[in-house]
Amino acid sequence: MSERSGRAPHVLLAVCGGIAAYKACEVLRGLQKAGCEVRVVMTADAERFVGTVTFEALSGAPVATSLYDYPGSPIPHIELAEWADLAVVVPATGNVMAKMACGIADDCLSTTLLACACPALVAPGMNVHMWCNAATRANFETLRERGVRFVGPGSGRLACGDVGEGKLASVEEIVAAALALLGGEDGSKKDLTGVRLLIDAGPTHEAIDPVRYIANASTGKMGYAIAEAAVRRGAEVTLVSGPTALATPEGVRHVDVVSAAEMHDAMLAEFEGADVAICCAAVADYTPAHPADHKLKKGVERLDSIELVQTADILADLCAVKGGRVVVGFAAETNDLIAHAQEKLERKGADLIVANDVSRPESTFGADTNRVALVSADGVEQLDTMPLPAVADALLSKLGTCHL
Ligand code: CTP
Repeated sequence: MSERSGRAPHVLLAVCGGIAAYKACEVLRGLQKAGCEVRVVMTADAERFVGTVTFEALSGAPVATSLYDYPGSPIPHIELAEWADLAVVVPATGNVMAKMACGIADDCLSTTLLACACPALVAPGMNVHMWCNAATRANFETLRERGVRFVGPGSGRLACGDVGEGKLASVEEIVAAALALLGGEDGSKKDLTGVRLLIDAGPTHEAIDPVRYIANASTGKMGYAIAEAAVRRGAEVTLVSGPTALATPEGVRHVDVVSAAEMHDAMLAEFEGADVAICCAAVADYTPAHPADHKLKKGVERLDSIELVQTADILADLCAVKGGRVVVGFAAETNDLIAHAQEKLERKGADLIVANDVSRPESTFGADTNRVALVSADGVEQLDTMPLPAVADALLSKLGTCHL
């Protein structure tokens, strides 16, 4: 990817052969208005819908349609791929999505996309049956897992007359998603745009009777800080939270739970629509086997002991169904931090364990700082003591190395 300091962002617009190809002209204009420099690569089918002359006039640059005939360069696919900060595919046809998913490079557009190391934003536009076809769905999932970002498609009346999903996202949505990937208006990088992030946070309460429970010292601060940082960086965030005193960060979807069992069910259900899960909650490991349905009266019903049963392990159960998705766990330890974290990484099947020593004042429950080590199959990265928002950002940046 080209170095970008002090110049306009470079967007490579990859136009495919769908009826919505004409909308790519408006996307080009929208990107230019936002200060981007745009170059175009087209498929032969796209040329049937909109001529190269239109894109050449709008972009002020030659349009790449062939690997062998591009003014000024004998290797246009490499030159354009290295030039681009972002590739935007509009409208992405089922065929081009399939080629991207399989790494097929049999024309100028697909070869250029294969050569791109920059982020890619795909805006599908096709017939509802083509979009819903199992092959397209599988390609969509494959591309998402590899970090390709999608905008749309929406639902509505399609060019063919069918009604349903497959409608190209609006020009405004595509431009906004592209700009978000290039960096927000405030200069902050929206590098998690299009990522659906699921987080659990806080303690759980395990009922003994309707007024008594077993809990732990978690405040939820770390998980809430991750949720806030992720939204700022463009992610779509769902926060499954046990009982805490914290306000839900703006832009975060919030699911309230109380017990470990409720958190387990909510996390497993929400994970179906997520790309990444971060298990930050201090989930109770044990819960009363027979919670009373009425307040126990000490003079009448003695409570000398409580029979406990183990709760289900949310992190392990998410890892069991994650497929190519990324799942991150925490390890709260008081001794042998790294060894315990490595053991949890392996036993639970997580991609990353964030290990913190809760016996230290700077990383204990309730602190506004944390000192963590990021433990993955690649090794151990010990971070300094930092405020929670900085720890959250460091963790989210690390996700980029987990094939997000
Ligand atoms: N975790 C979970 N469900 C549980 C218990 C733990 O999802 N029932 C998750 C935590 O959210 C955390 C990770 O597992 O991401 C490790 O939690 P921790 O309490 O450190 O470890 P445990 O699995 O409870 O193991 P141990 O008691 O041996 O430390």
